[in-house]
Amino acid sequence: MDHATLRAQLPFTLARTDFPALGEKYQGKVRDTYAKGERLVLVTTDRLSAFDHVLTTLPFKGDLLNQLAQHWFKATAHIVPNHVLDVPDPCVTVARRAQPFAVELVVRAHLTGSLWRDYQAGKDPYGLKLPPGLTKNSAFPAPVFTPSTKAPKGQHDEPISAAQVVERGLLTARQLAEVTEAAFAIFREGQRLARARGLVLVDTKYEMGLVQGKLTLIDEIHTPDSSRYWELDSLDARLAKGEEPVMLDKENLRQWLITERNFSGHGPLPQIPDDVRVNLAGIYARAFERITGAAFEGSVGDVSARLAKNLASLLRG
Ligand SMILES: Nc1ncnc2c1ncn2[C@@H]1O[C@H](COP(=O)(O)OP(=O)(O)OP(=O)(O)O)[C@@H](O)[C@H]1O
Ligand SMILES: [Mg+2]
Repeated sequence: MDHATLRAQLPFTLARTDFPALGEKYQGKVRDTYAKGERLVLVTTDRLSAFDHVLTTLPFKGDLLNQLAQHWFKATAHIVPNHVLDVPDPCVTVARRAQPFAVELVVRAHLTGSLWRDYQAGKDPYGLKLPPGLTKNSAFPAPVFTPSTKAPKGQHDEPISAAQVVERGLLTARQLAEVTEAAFAIFREGQRLARARGLVLVDTKYEMGLVQGKLTLIDEIHTPDSSRYWELDSLDARLAKGEEPVMLDKENLRQWLITERNFSGHGPLPQIPDDVRVNLAGIYARAFERITGAAFEGSVGDVSARLAKNLASLLRG
């Protein structure tokens, strides 16, 4: 999708929804979820968060994320069952409501981001016991599991070791074994499919829960919000020169916030210029197109009006 189309959508982005008829509303940073009985309607809005703060919206972000998640849910359903029931609109998933585990299941294949910062500072919150002398962005021999707590709304998720997950009673030992095995299996498949498309799935966060007692993948999967993606072609050459990889994910925004606005989650929220919004939306669209192999089709116009139409039968009950 070209920047002109993304720019044209700026006045129409979806920042909030209000559909009381869909059920009890929970507003996350990105998704508005409506719960009724065993059913959950997840509306992925265009809200963009970074460092746990909603900063702005991106044109077509909800459509891009939700459809990309659908792509990955389908591609991994044979490995772990997921919550998807229906996709009545590009940015809406009707899902089975789960009892979510209070742990964010993070899997990483490279030493980067907060893990690199911890490593450099000599911290090992996950009990990984990584050997000394590793370089930034280098690949691990095998992916590692770096969970975090799922903090209540408004609080920050905290790193936690797998052992502590059980000690604190967040999961039983048996559940921990089951979710890590599932997370690694989906991650390996994600890496394989991304690689076939010229991308590296660097790390990601999964959420899982129980639906009728059965382990189920919920929330989102392998989106540029919840994952890092690097371009495969240029990776080795760039790392050898000590350069950063070409990133197709939210990390672009985090780095812009740090270098251009000195913002890493504290102090007043910075304004995000339209050029930055359009650029980042372009990166998300590129990630979508690379991963799915299909062009991203988004039509310029009011998302709220489209939603009301596509959700009509759900809204009638
Ligand atoms: N099938 C499901 N059953 C129950 N809860 C779900 C399911 N799928 C997603 N969720 C929850 O819905 C919410 C989605 O909203 P969103 O991703 O915007 O939240 P967030 O900002 O990441 O997290 P927070 O809940 O801390 O605000 C998350 O709290 C997620 O755990
Ligand atoms: Mg989330």
